[in-house]
Parts: sequence; structure tokens; C-alpha cells
Amino acid sequence: MHAEKTLGPPTALELIRIEDVHKTYHIGDMQVHALRGVSLTIDRGSFVAIMGPSGSGKSTFMNIVGCLDKPSSGEYLLDSVSISKMHRDELADIRNKKVGFVFQQFNLLARTTALENVELPLLYSDETDTSNFKNRAMDALTAVGLADRSDHHPSQLSGGQQQRVAIARSLINNPQLILADEPTGALDSKTSVEIMAIFQRLNREKNISIVIVTHEPDIAHYADRIIVFKDGKVQSDERVAEPRDAARELREWVADDDDEEEPAA
Ligand SMILES: Nc1ncnc2c1ncn2[C@@H]1O[C@H](COP(=O)(O)OP(=O)(O)OP(=O)(O)O)[C@@H](O)[C@H]1O
Ligand SMILES: [Mg+2]
Repeated sequence: MHAEKTLGPPTALELIRIEDVHKTYHIGDMQVHALRGVSLTIDRGSFVAIMGPSGSGKSTFMNIVGCLDKPSSGEYLLDSVSISKMHRDELADIRNKKVGFVFQQFNLLARTTALENVELPLLYSDETDTSNFKNRAMDALTAVGLADRSDHHPSQLSGGQQQRVAIARSLINNPQLILADEPTGALDSKTSVEIMAIFQRLNREKNISIVIVTHEPDIAHYADRIIVFKDGKVQSDERVAEPRDAARELREWVADDDDEEEPAA
């Protein structure tokens, strides 16, 4: 299947609609064409992996989808609302309400506990009733299995645990969409599978749409769709027939470890 150049009419399922989006950066006299006409839709409840070589426009695409940046031309609708011509403050408002972000390097505040890191986006929100902030942050930490580490600072947590704190932080405003740019890029294989298990559970149980960028084909196959970028365009866009099941793989992993503990005959 190749990427469609023209999109059909909008459907009720659509969360993201990107139409002929271009993004050009200007550095002095130089122009960098980071996106050169991207058209695609992403339905609610999808789990999408974005792949492609360095410089192909993946992060630029994510920044636009996450309302961190606007297209130079073309149209972007998030949840049927046109983003392209919004002002910065409107953009920030939509972003805070609808999108959670997860980064390769976790981006946690070092001198702050896990709980306070998770709470942080609430302090920047327009919510005035702060009385439930701690409870909500604890609920989010519980959702990623880290309730017992709420008092720990990032340096007292493993990489995988730090990324789980970052995922809890991304959940705090009940986003419809989580965007993760190489969320397993700094993690070993098993920890990566643990992180993918959390994303798959949030996707299936809370119907949160998830878009991740990854350089690893193994990781991309936990998604149900893989979009490959090349030179600022969509090169391919394919469904994954049978996505990998991270939770099942972890159970089998544990079972294997148990076997290994048996003394050799
Ligand atoms: N803020 C910016 N100013 C100028 N050029 C930029 C900016 N951000 C990205 N670019 C350029 O746009 C192009 C696409 O960059 P982008 O970061 O989207 O690539 P990427 O696919 O995420 O790559 P990587 O896999 O290395 O993260 C590159 O040529 C890059 O140098
Ligand atoms: Mg990038």
C-alpha cells in the first residue's frame, strides 16, 4: 500500500487530519524543506509508528501534530479543529488539553520527586483547584506501576523507571493523544518492551491514540500501522497484520527466567 496523495472526506473516527503539509525552515539565506507535502489521517485509538532516516522530517511532523509548531502551508485538523492558523496561546491551550509528550531522554527535573515531576503540567494548566493535584499525580504513577517510587528523585530511578515517570506525566491531563519521539532510544531491549507494554495498555484500555518515532523495526511492530518518511514525504504507510504483544512477551520472558533458575540436570 502506498500513501494516498489525496484524502477522502473527514470521518467521525479521525483524530488527526494532515493535508498537503509543508514545513520550511529558514536559516539565514538557506531554506530547509523539512516536510514537502504530507497528507494523512490518523483515527482515534490508533497506535502508529513513524520510521525513516535521520533528517527525513519525523520530529518536524511530530512537532506539528503536537501543536508545538505550525505548518508553513497546508492544513492540520486535530479533533476536527483547524490548527494551521491558530495563535500561539490557542495552540498551547489545545496542546495542554489534548496531547501528552514523551521524549528519548525523559526530560525530568532532577531535583524534583517523581510525584512532583508528574504533577508539573497541572501547575502550568489553567486549573485553579490545586487540592486534587497530588492525588491525580499519584493515580498517573499508579497507572505506570510506580506508586511505590513517588518520593524518589530521577537519579534514584533506572532509565525504564524514569521513562515510566515521563509517561505518567504525559497522562496527567487525560490526553487523547500521546506523542513519543524515540521513547526507547536510551533503553535496553527488555526495558524497551516494558515501555511498549505500557503504551499498548494505555492504547487498548484507555483508547489513547499513540504515535511513536522509532529507528528500530522491532519496536515499530508493536504498533498497528507503520508510516515511513523519506525526504520530507511519506514513503510508505502500511498496516501491521499482527502487531507484537509486549505484555505477552514479558510474561514469556519471566517464564524463561524461571526455567533458567532450575538447577541444570
Ligand atoms: N528548528 C530547525 N531549524 C532549521 N532546520 C531544522 C529545524 N528542525 C529540523 N530542521 C531540519 O529539517 C530536516 C528534518 O529534521 P527532523 O528533525 O524532522 O528529522 P528527523 O527525521 O526527526 O531526524 P532524526 O532521526 O535525526 O531525529 C533536517 O534537515 C533538519 O536539519
Ligand atoms: Mg528526530
